[in-house]
Amino acid sequence: MKHLLKMLDLSQQEIFDILNLADKLKYQTKHNIPHRMLEGKTLGMIFQKASTRTRVSFETGMYQLGGYPLFLSANDLQIGRGEPVQDTARVLSRYLDCIMIRTFAQKEVEDLAEYGSIPIINGLTDFCHPCQVLADLLTIREYKANFDGLKMCYIGDGNNMANSLIVGGLKVGMDVSIACPDDYQPDKQVLDFAKDYKGFSMTNSPLEAAQDADVLLTDVWSSMGMESEIEKRKIAFNGYQINDEIMAAAHADAMVMHCLPAHRGEEITEKVFEAHANEIFDEAENRLHAQKAVMVKLMCPDEK
Ligand code: CP
Ligand code: NVA
Repeated sequence: MKHLLKMLDLSQQEIFDILNLADKLKYQTKHNIPHRMLEGKTLGMIFQKASTRTRVSFETGMYQLGGYPLFLSANDLQIGRGEPVQDTARVLSRYLDCIMIRTFAQKEVEDLAEYGSIPIINGLTDFCHPCQVLADLLTIREYKANFDGLKMCYIGDGNNMANSLIVGGLKVGMDVSIACPDDYQPDKQVLDFAKDYKGFSMTNSPLEAAQDADVLLTDVWSSMGMESEIEKRKIAFNGYQINDEIMAAAHADAMVMHCLPAHRGEEITEKVFEAHANEIFDEAENRLHAQKAVMVKLMCPDEK
């Protein structure tokens, strides 16, 4: 594994290797066992969009691993004034050991990887959010012990989270059901990947998708960058909500997860959110552990 650009690039073995290392790093973190595997390494973190979890978990994770994180707001970089990503990649490769980037176009992330000579981590694009989904898989495995026979259901926008959950969920062996409005379906590249899996299903009925689910997930109706569509989307997504009716269709012990930030009363009710706050905040914590594993794999590939 040279980069983390999207879940489509990872093999099942690579996903399990990251999750296993994340478990080990989580144990070491919780027990104050030093694990300074990235001593002397530097991570540049480029943000073209806002962030709470991604920024803080990468920055803290790099510190705990003995390395140095640099926060690089795109507004302050020349990239924000139009310096080509190809040049930025070649310059930053001379100073840093790894780059994490959060931006709009997936192509920008792929270009960084093509033109730079250091590992690139996708910290969210409009297309996907692989760091989040690795943390989600870590959390599901913690609660359910393994993925065998599980049904994961995603309700809402066919956005970056949906795209990554479909690929990640299917690759680790879960069944995946998706409920999206017709005009807001996941990316075609993802649907092409998923069509070969008999455990994949897509509908526009949230109730049907949630039937016998073991894990329920949702995400905001309007992602970052879609602020002008908020009112239109509130209408389009009416009914695409995790609520008591959806919970009644799922298995009684179903987990509920949300990448956060959440809009209570839109994609999830306050009641369901608070009833499943343990899972949701364990999921948020696991960003730290999963990303530490990704950084170690990329910057120190012999580490198990
Ligand atoms: N889930 C997630 O990526 O959160 P942030 O936008 O706060 O980083
Ligand atoms: N789909 C959301 C995820 C935020 C972590 C967005 O892109 O804004």
